[in-house]
Amino acid sequence: MEQTYVMVKPDGVQRGLVGEVISRIEKRGLKLVALRMNVISEAIAKEHYSEHASKPFFPGLVEFITSGPSVSMVVAGKDAIRVMRAINGATNPVDAAPGTIRGDFALDVGRNVVHASDSPDAAAREIAIHFKDSEIGKYSRIDEVCLYE
Ligand code: RTP
Ligand code: MG
Repeated sequence: MEQTYVMVKPDGVQRGLVGEVISRIEKRGLKLVALRMNVISEAIAKEHYSEHASKPFFPGLVEFITSGPSVSMVVAGKDAIRVMRAINGATNPVDAAPGTIRGDFALDVGRNVVHASDSPDAAAREIAIHFKDSEIGKYSRIDEVCLYE
C-alpha cells in the first residue's frame, strides 16, 4: 500500500482541528501508521520545504511551521498520495472546494491547516525526514476486508 506524509500545521493545532483532520483521514479508509506531535526545528522545516527555498514566501513559511506544535503522520492506503491531496484541497483555500479540509476550514494560503506530499518521490523523502523506519507501524485494519475489492 502507498504511504504519504501528512502534517496538521501549527494553525490547525491552535484551532483545534487535529481530531477533525484525523477523523476525515480515518473515515475515508486511509490508515494511520505513524503519528507524533512536536515543534519542528528550523533545520527540519528548511529541509522539508527545500523545493521552495528560493521563493519569497520561504522565510515566512519556515517561521510559521516552526512557531508551535504540529502533528506529523504517515498515512497508508490505496493511492494514498493522490487521495490525501484531494482530501486537503487546493493550496490556496480560496480555490479549495467545499468538502475539502482547506475548503471547509481555511481562507489564507499561508494558514491552510494541512500538508500532504505531492508525489511518490516527495512522500519517500518527507517520510524519511520526519520518521525513523522503526516508528512506522505495520498492521492490518479490520475494515480493510470491506474497503478493498
Ligand atoms: P503543502 O506543501 O504545505 O502541502 O502545500 P501545497 O503542496 O499545496 O503547496 P506548495 O506549493 O508546496 O506550498 C507550500 C506551502 O507554502 C505556502 N505558500 N505560500 N504566499 C504564497 O504565495 C504561498 N504559496 C505557498 C502555503 O502554506 C503552502 O501550503
Ligand atoms: Mg507542497
